[in-house]
Amino acid sequence: MNVLKRLLRAIFERLESGLDAACGPRFNPLVQLGAIGWFLFWLIAASGIYVYIFFDTGVEQAYTSVEALTHDQWWAGGIMRSLHRYASDGLVVVAFVHMLREFAMDRMRGVRWFAWVTGLLLIGFIYVCGITGYWMVWDQLAQYVALTTSRWLDALPIFSESISRNFVNNAGLSGRFFTLMAYIHIAAPLLMLALMWVHIQRYSHARVNPARNLAIAIVMALGALSLVKPALSQGAANLDALAASVGLDWFYLAFYPLIDTLGAGGLWALALGVLAVLAILPWVPPLRRPSPAVVSLDNCNGCSRCFDDCPYSAITMQPRSDGLPFAQEAVVDPDLCVSCGICAGACPTATPFRRATALVPGIELPQHGIAALREKVQAACQGLAGKPGVLVFRCEHGAAVRPPAAGAAAVIDVPCTGMLPPSFLDLVITRKLADGVMLAGCHEGSCYQRLGIDWTEQRVAALRDPYLRDRVPRERIAVSWANPVQQAARTAALDGFIAALAEGGRAAAAPAGAGKPAWRLPGRGLPAGLRQGVQLLLLAGAMWPLGYLSATPAVRLRGEHEAVVTLTFSHAGRHQQECRKLSPEELARLPPNMRRSTGCPRARWPVYVELDLNGHTVFAGTEQPAGLWDDGPSSLFERFRVPAGAQQVAVRLRDSGRESGFDFTAAADVDLRPGQNFVIDFRQPGGFMLK
Ligand code: HEM
Ligand code: SF4
Ligand code: SF4
Repeated sequence: MNVLKRLLRAIFERLESGLDAACGPRFNPLVQLGAIGWFLFWLIAASGIYVYIFFDTGVEQAYTSVEALTHDQWWAGGIMRSLHRYASDGLVVVAFVHMLREFAMDRMRGVRWFAWVTGLLLIGFIYVCGITGYWMVWDQLAQYVALTTSRWLDALPIFSESISRNFVNNAGLSGRFFTLMAYIHIAAPLLMLALMWVHIQRYSHARVNPARNLAIAIVMALGALSLVKPALSQGAANLDALAASVGLDWFYLAFYPLIDTLGAGGLWALALGVLAVLAILPWVPPLRRPSPAVVSLDNCNGCSRCFDDCPYSAITMQPRSDGLPFAQEAVVDPDLCVSCGICAGACPTATPFRRATALVPGIELPQHGIAALREKVQAACQGLAGKPGVLVFRCEHGAAVRPPAAGAAAVIDVPCTGMLPPSFLDLVITRKLADGVMLAGCHEGSCYQRLGIDWTEQRVAALRDPYLRDRVPRERIAVSWANPVQQAARTAALDGFIAALAEGGRAAAAPAGAGKPAWRLPGRGLPAGLRQGVQLLLLAGAMWPLGYLSATPAVRLRGEHEAVVTLTFSHAGRHQQECRKLSPEELARLPPNMRRSTGCPRARWPVYVELDLNGHTVFAGTEQPAGLWDDGPSSLFERFRVPAGAQQVAVRLRDSGRESGFDFTAAADVDLRPGQNFVIDFRQPGGFMLK
């Protein structure tokens, strides 16, 4: 598992690094997949509302209304329909890549299990929305979706009637299914929205909007795809026939053809197996959790900065419990705390200038105490031999720090750069413990602890409390955000910083204040002109598979010269025992309100059926009665692909529990057209119907 994770992580980091060069960290789509997911959801909702205004829920009307929308109104309805489809396909891709990335970055274990499990549920909702959407159009693809989904659902022992029987032939099709689909297709996204909200409940300042330019680029790219390759229907559904092939949306329906090889039960086993494996991943292997943050009430003045800065909503401000003259106190929920330490970086009492011998701040991580950090800083700075010497605070999740010469830089590892109170920078610079301080974190757009980079930059830029005091010359502070594969950038940043400090610090440093961090990674990436070209190519590259896989390649449903025979019934076998008069003793044993002169045991006989085609038995099976008491109907829906042309059909049924012989039989010589759906149905009264 760890090998797979490391491999995936390396792939993601390389991709992220490449996209940084092409798009810049702010517009890098890989670091804002959750936000893109939210954006696509709104896009799907808006285009869906437009399409729904013109959609008619009826057997005939569904198809014709969508056709009219697509062709008569191609400039608005057609584009909206295509946007609706392609954004939905995009959401599948985004959700899976987001899932894979959180797995690769190991951001799903420990207390983060909640987002993972709710994320899995979200995938289920995405599929329900997509599948019901395709069903509503009632074209050839919808017919395939309806029959395959029904066959899949029928394998569950929870429905008393076979769902497939709603799609036996055109004559038996009722409009109620379209109404039901429309309800589900509207209700599922609403529930999904609620679940999306729950999904990010444990995150403060969750990012639900992608960078504006990225959002515009997504709309433009999807719009262009909609114009170049409009989403189309595949011919009206016709249950009296079976199309030779159908174009699939592989994002939503890739697993449908598997039902022919695995069977409906096998497909359930596969789907539930994959789901079970994914669902236990947050606990495999179990995360050895470091201790959560602890509050020292004696040092907490209830300022609520830790509450504002905690990325995981693990802190609440509650009424004071110790009698000190403050309104509130911070309380940590250990079940939500990931031990990032960012709260300690936010606490104004976590200052190394405090004279008290025991430096205990209002909040800190026991294993990364602030007093211990002050000692580490002093010891590390004593080891600095270089002129200038730099003290680096390095986040454990970022690139390594490789000083250009021994003694040129000392490194202290922290769980997140956001754990560092700015007063430590003040201490190091104003007490001249080192010539400069570098804050070396992880990838700029995707801090492992979510908000550590943002808060660090804002504190250094004096935009967020606790801010770095003005007296600290900003040219002596540097930040470097780089993931492990951006090692070269990290090394270049440190070398550049040391060189600039040697020159007096001013030349290469960015202006202090003005909301800008003092020092950023040296300019990386492609020149502006080339960048735009590469971005266009990337967008086109992303749209191509979206357009292609949304309807191609097609799956074969039957051979050119094949027809299909459907054998189906929903029939209650006879009662296993006849009704009879109850004896006075039996009556006396019954509760007074249930006393009746005759007793009718409810259990029914199973229904046994055989089908011969051209003299060969192609089906022989016993269908058990539905219901807990075996008192419901027995149901069957089976289809057989047969060569078109002359066929001798013979069918026999037994519903009375007899050992041999049959209660109903029928036979016919038929001439089947290619693609024809020949239905053998059984109803009471009347017996078999062959047509
Ligand atoms: C409709 C689909 C989804 C949307 C819109 C969505 C959205 C989001 C958002 C906005 C965040 C917070 C990002 C931040 O601000 O740090 C997030 C985090 C997360 N998501 Fe999703 N998500 C979706 C599906 C999934 C799926 C399918 C999974 C995995 C099964 C998943 C797993 C996670 C995890 C583990 C985190 C937490 C990362 C961390 O702890 O920093 N999400 N998601
Ligand atoms: S350590 Fe991190 S997650 Fe825990 S309370 Fe502090 S800021 Fe929140
Ligand atoms: S930041 Fe420190 S002082 Fe302020 S509420 Fe949190 S623990 Fe208390």
